[in-house]
Amino acid sequence: MAFKHWPGVRDFRFSTKIGRYLRGARKRRPDLDWAKFLRVAKQFKQDDMGSFPERGYLYQLASDAPENAQVVEIGSWMGASTCFLAAGLRGPRARVLAVDNFQGLSLCGEDVKWYQRHFRKLGTNSTLDIFNANFAALGLSDRAEPVVSDSLAAARLLADKRGSIDLIFVDGDHSYEGCKADIEAWLPYVKTGGVMAFHDFGSRASGVTQAIFETIKAGRFTEIVGVANTIIAFKV
Ligand SMILES: C[S@@+](CC[C@H](N)C(=O)[O-])C[C@H]1O[C@@H](n2cnc3c(N)ncnc32)[C@H](O)[C@@H]1O
Repeated sequence: MAFKHWPGVRDFRFSTKIGRYLRGARKRRPDLDWAKFLRVAKQFKQDDMGSFPERGYLYQLASDAPENAQVVEIGSWMGASTCFLAAGLRGPRARVLAVDNFQGLSLCGEDVKWYQRHFRKLGTNSTLDIFNANFAALGLSDRAEPVVSDSLAAARLLADKRGSIDLIFVDGDHSYEGCKADIEAWLPYVKTGGVMAFHDFGSRASGVTQAIFETIKAGRFTEIVGVANTIIAFKV
């Protein structure tokens, strides 16, 4: 086991980094409940899918969404990003529909190899049980509904929700074709004035960046809402 994964070392690194992040976050957004954010972060101490600024930004986007917001996430893996979104939501009917095949199936070969390595370590071929266990541990199960499906098939299945979604976070297939198809399939679901956010903009997933650039150039977003590391959010 690498030195940084030793429990004592891991806990020390976690408290130092999150302490630094929270000092800034509390100054920037004193109106948000950062204790709730911290609870979720503690559940995902071994999170290797996003940085604190990115997790904090998801929490902020969900907190800024209207009361009873309807949220869709494409690509949930073990539910870390989903829990940060769910924790920020307000109102008894607010929900995240978490769309994922939960099996690491993707057109992006590099990702598939990474998922397969993780599945071997986990000794399973699905992250759905882990997703559900994370939500249960945080008492957030009533805030999310996993949709076990390919993203494009889910878009067809949920056609009645077109134009009704307040916030979509896209972090599924990182190939150009996959991300482009997700944008085409899911953009019509966002209501006017709603937000579409992406992970991995400007990262080594160059296909994601290209697909987003093409959508900006085509004038399909009205403005940039914000950026946090590789998350970028647009108003629709
Ligand atoms: C990078 S992981 C998501 C990480 C998660 N958003 C987080 O930050 O904690 C990408 C996920 O997308 C899923 N995925 C990839 N392509 C997909 C597709 N076409 N349909 C459904 N899920 C897909 C994979 O199974 C994987 O769980």
